[in-house]
Amino acid sequence: MRCPHALPRRLARRSDLDRKEPNLSAVDVVIIGGCGHVGLPLGLAFADRGLNVVLYDINPNAVDAVNDGRLPFAEPGALEILGAVRAAGTLHASTDPATVRDAASVIVVIGTPIDNHLNPDLGAVQQAIGDVATHLVDGQLLVLRSTVYPGVTAMVEQLLVNLRLDVDVAFCPERIAEGQAMRELYELPQIVASRSKRALERATKLFRNLAHEIVYLEPEEAELAKLFTNTWRYIKFATANQLFMMANDFGLDYERIRAAVTYQYPRASDLPGAGFAAGPCLFKDTMQLAAFNNNNFHLGQASVMINEGLPLYLVARLEQSFDLSDLTVGILGMAFKAESDDIRSSLSYKLKRILRFKAARVLTHDPYVTVDPDLVALDALLTEADLLIIATPHSVYRDFETTKPVIDIWNLREQGVRA
Ligand SMILES: NC(=O)c1ccc[n+]([C@@H]2O[C@H](COP(=O)([O-])OP(=O)(O)OC[C@H]3O[C@@H](n4cnc5c(N)ncnc54)[C@H](O)[C@@H]3O)[C@@H](O)[C@H]2O)c1
Repeated sequence: MRCPHALPRRLARRSDLDRKEPNLSAVDVVIIGGCGHVGLPLGLAFADRGLNVVLYDINPNAVDAVNDGRLPFAEPGALEILGAVRAAGTLHASTDPATVRDAASVIVVIGTPIDNHLNPDLGAVQQAIGDVATHLVDGQLLVLRSTVYPGVTAMVEQLLVNLRLDVDVAFCPERIAEGQAMRELYELPQIVASRSKRALERATKLFRNLAHEIVYLEPEEAELAKLFTNTWRYIKFATANQLFMMANDFGLDYERIRAAVTYQYPRASDLPGAGFAAGPCLFKDTMQLAAFNNNNFHLGQASVMINEGLPLYLVARLEQSFDLSDLTVGILGMAFKAESDDIRSSLSYKLKRILRFKAARVLTHDPYVTVDPDLVALDALLTEADLLIIATPHSVYRDFETTKPVIDIWNLREQGVRA
């Protein structure tokens, strides 16, 4: 199906008077948003393959960290590559938007969050490109890599036409999971989309440095493909969480049932375990898809209610067995996923907020998180808390000794008690 936003393939050209004199051979790739969770691993991977990479980012702390050889956040395997590519001189970070000027390829991976009304900010990507527009030059390849609302690639194409820039545009979504980036960047097939043959060829050549398989789609198909990827995962987690609540309310152990369902039964082998489904992507991308479909996405919206409702369910169930108002509750794990330091949209914080109304005291611990001043040491939490909840299944919580009740919806310890 043709996209309603389809634009003419030939872009308007600048007049010779407007034309700048770039040195497009100086830098292979500039990544806008290059010190973020997606931009940095991507830049490291390209630099590790010998490309000359500049990470442009408006966060000066993250830029300084990268240039000092430190990671602004944890990502397994990234620190070693950062050391190697800095030594080789193939990567550096900058807060200077003018760095965009000499790059053959410019990749945009800024964050694309939803607003307080759960709607995507359709202007975020255009704004970021607009901010560097005076440094973009004819002949560049611009790759959009943020997860976007369908039609944003077309808007970017139109923006560049309006700016009278002859820049090739491709949409090449990122599909790595945090914590797996330095492996998955080399293993996952890369979706490449563009309305221009030349942009397709250039984006293919660029990503062949990493991926051994390229999958071609139209831009709007690729935008939906990325949203479908995350939404599918979010719905699967919601299914598991609903089934968990069902079994639990019936006094049965979901994990025991799941083990039986999935045992040597490939058709159900992807039934996930229960647990907090959170983080910066799955919820917001499900909401992006709902907004795209005029808010008509019952399955997605039901998934939000189930996944976001799990902390409330947990506390409501605990209130049936404990007088929380007398107890100190310890929350183990504040990051949104195991072995991560990323607290963005973590449901551990929702659990903490609910418990602060209900319990005498709430203590929190996380072995990886560095940005939360309220965290206490694990020993102190294990000593002072009357009741323990594993909110994030960090492996460090698998084996600690305690006589206190441990609420373990992840089934990390097996001997945990049901909620
Ligand atoms: N985090 C993930 O696991 C993941 C996976 C796949 C796709 N994505 C998508 O990738 C995109 C980026 O996500 P993220 O998690 O890396 O976000 P992030 O917040 O970690 O990184 C974004 C970076 O962009 C920088 N930035 C913001 N505005 C800028 C501007 N105008 N100019 C230059 N730099 C700017 C920020 O300082 C930050 O360092 C989002 O669209 C997200 O949905 C994320």
